[in-house]
Parts: sequence; structure tokens; C-alpha cells
Amino acid sequence: MQQLSRRLITLAAVLALFTVAACGAGDRPPQLDDSPEAAAYTMRDGLMQVVAWKLTQMRAMADGEIAADNAVFVKYAEDLTALAGMATEGFIPDSIVPGSRALPAIWQNWNDFERLAADFESSAQALAAAARSGGIAGSDAALRSFAQTCGNCHRGYRAPE
Ligand code: HEC
Repeated sequence: MQQLSRRLITLAAVLALFTVAACGAGDRPPQLDDSPEAAAYTMRDGLMQVVAWKLTQMRAMADGEIAADNAVFVKYAEDLTALAGMATEGFIPDSIVPGSRALPAIWQNWNDFERLAADFESSAQALAAAARSGGIAGSDAALRSFAQTCGNCHRGYRAPE
């Protein structure tokens, strides 16, 4: 009995060490408060993560790295159109919260930022149209120009890592 409890204590200690190691690697997400600015950041970061994931899946289908499915490809392009249409919504004023890579230039050049977001949306629309008419094989050029709209905006408005 005593041996069992000693083993349990050892196990608990090992688990605690693992937990510390897993969380203490310096990549712990910064603490966010419950302000509207933090919520807006969480929303726009999530939106960007979804956009990146869908684009990566589409690229992988086009490159033959995962199974190609035209219907899924069209759906993702339509999802991207909807997401791109929401791109500016999370960028509320004064919302450079801890962890954010947004640059003040966004609010100083709001019209330009909106223009890049509109390019992003129209480019996603063009991708969806190409996908509907030409499938994955016929969407390569549209996929490439859509992917360029990311860098066009990140260059001036997202801080380096
Ligand atoms: C209109 C401008 C704009 C466009 C277009 C845009 N982004 Fe972003 N993106 C930003 C900004 C600004 C941030 C930083 C937001 C923050 O951290 O508060 C960001 C953050 C991200 C992040 C968050 C993770 C990180 O810290 O790097 C990812 C992933 C991302 N973008 C992917 C994409 C991809 C992929 C595309 C194109 C398919 C794209 N974005 C198009 C402005 C844009």
C-alpha cells in the first residue's frame, strides 16, 4: 500500500514536470483580458487562421499532396470569399493587444487597408468562379493571384514575427 502511494506520488511528480515543460517553452499565449479590443483580436486572428488553413488545403489539392475533390475545392473557395468579406471587421480602433501583430499603419491608412481587403475579397470571388467552371485543374492562376493578396496586405500592415 505504501509502495503504491509512493508510486502514485512519483507519477504525479512526473506529470507535473511534463506539464511545466509543455507550458514553459516560451510560446505560452499572452494573457488577454475580456475587453472588446481583445475579443476583436481573437476574432480576426481566428479568421486569418481559418483562411490560411483553407488556402493550404486547396494548395495541397492542386499539388496532389492530398486527395483532390472538386466539390470541396469549390466550397473552400466560397468560404474564402465569405471570410475575406469579413476581413476588416475585427480591426476595431486601439486593438493592438498583447500578441497582436497588427501595425498602427492600419488605422493611419484605413482606406488603403480597406482597398487591400476588397482586393482580397474580389480575388477570392475570382477563385470561386474559376473553381466552379474549371475545377482544380483550371484554378491554378486564380489560386496564385489569391495567395498574392495575403502578402500585399501583410507587407505594410503586419509586424514581422
Ligand atoms: C487586408 C489585409 C490582410 C489580408 C488581405 C490578409 N491578411 Fe492575414 N493578417 C493581416 C493582419 C493585419 C494580421 C495581424 C493581425 C493581428 O495580429 O492583430 C494578419 C494575421 C494573419 C495570420 C495570423 C497569424 C500570424 O500571427 O501570422 C495569418 C495566419 C494570416 N494573417 C494569414 C493570411 C492569409 C493566408 C491571407 C491570404 C489568403 C491573409 N492573411 C490575408 C492582414 C491581412
